[in-house]
Amino acid sequence: MHDKIYPVSDDWAKSAQIDEPTYRAMYQRSVEDPDGFWAEQAKRIDWITPFTKVKNTSFAPDNVSIKWFEDGALNVSANCVDRHLAKRAEQVAILWEGDNPTESRSITYRELSEQVNVFANVLKEMGAKKGDRITIYMPMIPETAFAMLACTRIGAVHSVVFGGFSPDSLAGRIEDCGSKLVITADEGLRAGKKIPLKANVDAALAKLGGDVKTLVVQRTFADIPMQNGRDVFYNDLAKTVSQHCEPEAMNAEDPLFILYTSGSTGKPKGVLHTTGGYLVYASLTHSKVFDYRDGDIYWCTADVGWVTGHSYIVYGPLSNGATTLMFEGVPSYPTNSRFWEVIDKHKVNIFYTAPTAIRALMQAGDEPVKKTSRASLRLLGSVGEPINPEAWEWYHRVVGDDRCPIVDTWWQTETGGILITPLPGAIAQKPGSATLPFFGVQPAIVDGEGKVLEGVAEGNLIITDSWPGQMRTVYGDHDRFVQTYFSTYKNAYFTGDGCRRDADGYYWITGRVDDVLNVSGHRMGTAEVESALVAHEHVSEAAVVGYPHDIKGQGIYAYVTLMAAVEPTDALRKELVAWVRMEIGPIASPDLIQFAPGLPKTRSGKIMRRILRKIAEGEFGNLGDTSTLADPAVVDDLVANRQNKR
Ligand code: PRX
Repeated sequence: MHDKIYPVSDDWAKSAQIDEPTYRAMYQRSVEDPDGFWAEQAKRIDWITPFTKVKNTSFAPDNVSIKWFEDGALNVSANCVDRHLAKRAEQVAILWEGDNPTESRSITYRELSEQVNVFANVLKEMGAKKGDRITIYMPMIPETAFAMLACTRIGAVHSVVFGGFSPDSLAGRIEDCGSKLVITADEGLRAGKKIPLKANVDAALAKLGGDVKTLVVQRTFADIPMQNGRDVFYNDLAKTVSQHCEPEAMNAEDPLFILYTSGSTGKPKGVLHTTGGYLVYASLTHSKVFDYRDGDIYWCTADVGWVTGHSYIVYGPLSNGATTLMFEGVPSYPTNSRFWEVIDKHKVNIFYTAPTAIRALMQAGDEPVKKTSRASLRLLGSVGEPINPEAWEWYHRVVGDDRCPIVDTWWQTETGGILITPLPGAIAQKPGSATLPFFGVQPAIVDGEGKVLEGVAEGNLIITDSWPGQMRTVYGDHDRFVQTYFSTYKNAYFTGDGCRRDADGYYWITGRVDDVLNVSGHRMGTAEVESALVAHEHVSEAAVVGYPHDIKGQGIYAYVTLMAAVEPTDALRKELVAWVRMEIGPIASPDLIQFAPGLPKTRSGKIMRRILRKIAEGEFGNLGDTSTLADPAVVDDLVANRQNKR
């Protein structure tokens, strides 16, 4: 906890869309009269058929059902593109900054419209139609946004898979949602290195067999193998199709997209978002949380492979007619000044990034920041993991020159948009706190038994009523949806996060309370890394836990028991790291691997992760009761051979 308060400046209070009294009044209204409040807010979206019903939701364990605006019809691409043409056809919609600092592109709303119409017709030409699932495995280029919007135009459901995932992970995600089409690129480009996206798709499809087709956008124009009858170059088909595609009228509750995310058990879940509620929520939060004003240049540094990219690079900004910057590269390439140079180059006003990037750049010192101007910046944002107060202060002082408020936005893939955040003209900030709920969001803190705690409290974070951006189900597995989110606490959505509330009613997210890791703001299930490890021929058993990591927030610590007669060598350690990278992707690479002759288990065979976490954290004095272990001696070995933190 950090007591420092950064009050809202007079300037901000006067100029922002929402000041404190307005926030308080709107919040009150939003929870007392959700139907009235959201009916009004939904006017920011163009409806093909107006809705007459607003909220129809139940969190009751035997009847979890979430519907918003259920008899309305709309089209997302029409809202993100067509409707802006009358007023802002020549305004830049997507400002693209390449990996190479000499490359950039500006796409106006007129060009965006042309591109999305053609892309939609190309999808139709490939046989795609309303309701089909289409997997998008792309680098950070404007064509990725065109592809997403094209899907929404024809009513297809996209599933974007982060370009850093392995062929295996990609194959699982293609199979789970039954997509018959994968949109990819020849290669991606990051920090000067080529990423073999099409080759990864080939490897994924080789695992699946069947009749999945690919559509290949050319990014690097590499000479890649194309399979006749299965693979098509986007450019070849784009030349042949009509320039106009009528947007499909979609029911508000028709699926919009699936996004896979890690849980505490099993394989990643297909989080399903629907059309109307999601768009209203993404649009409203983008406008108010970032206080987006006409003409602002807005930059969210996320990858579109994550929910942040969906809601706050593509759908939120474009539905608001904003200029959204899309960055192909990384913060440290070619130098640690890259972010700040891009801000100066494009005169960025609003900048939204992750604590892990802030911490890494903070380690590089002030000089790479200070040699840039950043005079255009007005507002800073943080997302993805708890931000430690030191990093917050540095972001505020060095990057924002003590001038820009910071919105620390807490939310999840499941929530569709930001749930807890300061509004910059309304709420005083405290470094490390996500502060107060957005409109319509009713957080509560509960203890282990589910008792709601009032006032100053610490426990688990639940949300007691629905908001329009909430996920509707786990694709193909509604029982898992109910089980995961609505069975721990009665009549409430369980976030999986721990949280405390201070005397001012501010919320402080303390991190996951389940077996989900947050590594550099990327979500990773310990079970996924474990199952990758045990798939290696030399591994008999594995247990994975998180430990505090200076830059990544959490690092991945793996305890590995080898098969009998296998030598525990450094070479094998390296091989296992490479193995996990290959099985899941680089984001899942274990930071530390400890070879353990045995794991601490109860007599019934359950691994006691509590002990493993403590050892990984280096808290040996505090291991708790180990007498119930089947073999207490294994703990001594684990402590003696603990790997050093990096
Ligand atoms: O633990 C919380 C953390 O990230 C989790 C959600 O991860 P994901 O679904 O990948 O979405 C990330 C981007 C929205 C949450 O359960 N988290 C996210 N934002 C914050 C955060 N923790 C603390 N403060 C935040 N601002």
